[in-house]
Amino acid sequence: MSDTKSEAKVAGLKPIKENLEPGEYYWCACGLSGNQPYCDGSHAGTDISPTTFKIEEQNDVFLCLCKQTQTPPFCDG
Ligand code: FES
Repeated sequence: MSDTKSEAKVAGLKPIKENLEPGEYYWCACGLSGNQPYCDGSHAGTDISPTTFKIEEQNDVFLCLCKQTQTPPFCDG
């Protein structure tokens, strides 16, 4: 069986700091979104799906833009 998983595109080389309100968010895992770091549906046609994450309390978070993080959606350095 061959590995045909699409490669994520690097959307930026530094994480983006966001101050998020409690709620549910969709992090772009494919790197194609024009609304980084969030999914805008541009992953259509790839086999990559956005990562859903929840924020319980308003907080600053560092969201990955290089799409290589092992702890999506958060930057792992
Ligand atoms: Fe990248 Fe949806 S646009 S995961």
